[in-house]
Amino acid sequence: MTEKIAKDKKTIKRHGLSVLFVHWTVAISTFILIFSGLGQMPLYKRYMLDQLPGLSWVIDYSITLSIHYWATTVLIFAIMYHIVFHIMRRDFDMLPRRGDMKQSAQIIMAVFGFGKEPENDKYLAEQRLAYVFIGFSLLLLVFTGIFKVIKNLPHINFSEGFTFWITQVHNLGTFLIIIGIVAHLGAFIFKENWPMLPGIFTGKIDLGYAKRRHSIWYNRVSGKKR
Ligand code: HEM
Ligand code: HEM
Repeated sequence: MTEKIAKDKKTIKRHGLSVLFVHWTVAISTFILIFSGLGQMPLYKRYMLDQLPGLSWVIDYSITLSIHYWATTVLIFAIMYHIVFHIMRRDFDMLPRRGDMKQSAQIIMAVFGFGKEPENDKYLAEQRLAYVFIGFSLLLLVFTGIFKVIKNLPHINFSEGFTFWITQVHNLGTFLIIIGIVAHLGAFIFKENWPMLPGIFTGKIDLGYAKRRHSIWYNRVSGKKR
């Protein structure tokens, strides 16, 4: 079990190496996919991004396409690792539960000073919803992306309508993932969420914060009853 209270009783281990590895491989490959994907649209030339020092390559279709393919390989590997890892450990803390919508509203209201936050487990209800939103957007991109790769192979032709819809849904996925990332990073504007930040780099967070805000999780890890 990776989750445990540190000997000095100041921090608590929240994420193991595998989780940190998956978070950052997904994050970095996703940023690269957004950048290289948008590069295949006539955007960077129009906005003269290629005029910036060292960036003349961004309008070279063969380069951005090849970067898109490499980042895809990394993303798909990280997603498969994530799924196998969590199924093997029967760790489903991040999956949504009944009442998460209501609890998320309570958490957001509490941040603005209205009412009290509910007791939280390892993840806040809004984090569980964010996980599904981001996960769904990425799976949509992988699913439609695979058809786009097949279409690019020699001698394979899909009907015009099918190609059109696959591209539309791939673009919709791009839009959704950008919204998801903005909302995800936007959550860290609020001071209440800052103590979670060290956790995604070092795996550990402040013990007092865990006790106060993630009491259900804290009690489980420390062996206390609810
Ligand atoms: C493409 C970029 C990224 C994606 C797709 C992504 C995705 C996710 C997902 C799905 C979660 C779990 C659910 C949640 O907490 O909302 C998570 C957790 C987290 N992410 Fe990201 N993330 C990205 C970038 C970043 C960046 C740049 C930071 C900030 C430095 C960050 C900080 C965190 C933190 C602190 C947590 C853990 C919260 C906890 O311990 O409960 N993420 N991320
Ligand atoms: C975060 C993930 C991703 C984002 C944001 C993204 C974004 C984009 C964008 C904006 C385009 C250009 C518009 C278009 O032709 O539809 C594109 C094209 C493409 N994407 Fe993705 N994509 C992602 C993941 C993937 C994945 C996982 C695959 C493969 C499994 C993939 C395969 C392709 C292919 C083959 C093209 C078309 C290249 C061409 O023939 O012009 N993408 N992507």
